Amino acid sequence: MLGKPWVRHLLMLFVVGNSAVLAADSSVLKPRVPPDQIEKAKTWRNPFPATPDNIEKGRKIFHGKAFCVTCHGRDGKGLGNIPGLRGQLPRNFTDQAWQAARTDGELFWILKNGSPGTDMASFIPLVLTEEEAWQVLLYVRSFGRR
Ligand code: HEC
Repeated sequence: MLGKPWVRHLLMLFVVGNSAVLAADSSVLKPRVPPDQIEKAKTWRNPFPATPDNIEKGRKIFHGKAFCVTCHGRDGKGLGNIPGLRGQLPRNFTDQAWQAARTDGELFWILKNGSPGTDMASFIPLVLTEEEAWQVLLYVRSFGRR
């Protein structure tokens, strides 16, 4: 029965369909910082504690001058319908697996350098000071606790 062409076809669909889902997840979790810089980036610590005051400063930056909201959305889930966006979709900050996979230092590296090959641009120093970048990252982290 496995030899029948339509059965093989169904099996193929099952296997290919499943691995596509797995590939989508692991592509989001794959580190964005290049291998020669990631160990250093992982040692950078957020100098600001996650107090309600500091998270509020980050919230204002996210929705205001840094316009993060235009791609990552009000709910932090990432908008899927941005005209002209190339490559990866904006990150879903409510994804717990992604939150756990990243150190604060790696996220800071992204705000400094952008995510190579995607539309996630560099924000330090043109849009954000380093202090503001750490504050907005406190807000990004807060999506993982909702
Ligand atoms: C023009 C749309 C756009 C804007 C504006 C934008 N982002 Fe992104 N962002 C993206 C995209 C696209 C990705 C996915 C990149 C990838 O998969 O590597 C991303 C990914 C990220 C990541 C995840 C990187 C990782 O390691 O997985 C962080 C953190 C992030 N953005 C923070 C921000 C913050 C904070 C702001 C505002 C200062 C911002 N983004 C503004 C499009 C945007």
